[in-house]
Amino acid sequence: MEYENILVEQRGKVVIVTLHRPAVLNALNDQLMDELGHALLKFDTDEGVSCIMLTGSEKAFAAGADIGVMAGYSYMDVYKSDFITRNWEHIRNVRKPVIAAVAGYALGGGCELAMMCDFIIAAETAKFGQPEIKLGIIPGAGGTQRLPRAISKAKAMDMCLTARMMDAQEAERAGLVSRVVPAEKLMEEAMAAADSIAAMSLPAVLMAKEAVNRAYETTLSEGLLFERRLFHGTFATEDQKEGMQAFLEKRPSVFKNR
Ligand code: CAA
Repeated sequence: MEYENILVEQRGKVVIVTLHRPAVLNALNDQLMDELGHALLKFDTDEGVSCIMLTGSEKAFAAGADIGVMAGYSYMDVYKSDFITRNWEHIRNVRKPVIAAVAGYALGGGCELAMMCDFIIAAETAKFGQPEIKLGIIPGAGGTQRLPRAISKAKAMDMCLTARMMDAQEAERAGLVSRVVPAEKLMEEAMAAADSIAAMSLPAVLMAKEAVNRAYETTLSEGLLFERRLFHGTFATEDQKEGMQAFLEKRPSVFKNR
């Protein structure tokens, strides 16, 4: 597939996918989401890739779903095509870690897309929001569900009902983003995080991601059991032997499965 709305660059075991519709602040249309889904699923099964970074421009990660396209949609159009989930859900099936590196606006579907990633590193310029209410609609790609889980009901309601934006500092305090960095350091910091993940044992990384995600879907007892079974499984890997031996020998680990 030829990509026209995203840019792809591989650095070592890390792939950087850049949303690229600069004229409309990376507004997310079907073509872009098809390309993004295709790329994510391709890199997920590519043995040369261990971690994926998703980013946008300095001004916008993404300013939301494309309003120009949506303006003409009828109920039947969106219902029949299951609009917004059809090609937005691929990211949920990606087993490898996906880091969102966010500068500028992450609004509506842009905020929702960032939240679908495993964690968000934000530039000081980042602004998060769910302004759909101003358009007479509500968030449609998980905003009403992932925001309360990430930042509490009170803040989620505030954002979804008033459409106010949250700056990077508030987003970090609220737990939406894992760290805030100076804008000029965003790519460097996100790459460092991605490189450090790519140097770990890939099976352990996949299991850690799977286990954390399970916390959203199940009871504590089931989640703890799930975690313990995966934890036990790590003892069947060569990488567990290497990781522990390297610690005892006071040397860096060199994992075989990366
Ligand atoms: N869809 C389509 N085009 C968009 C867009 C969007 N979501 N966001 C920005 N653009 C376009 C603008 O129309 C403008 O195009 P023109 O130059 O042709 O006029 C261009 O991008 C630059 O935008 P602005 O001139 O508005 O830039 P600004 O700096 O003055 O404002 C902004 C930036 C505050 C992000 C403003 O563009 C804005 O409010 N955008 C819309 C944000 C929004 O409502 N997003 C939610 C969409 S609905 C959704 O996402 C549903 C869902 O849950 C999935």
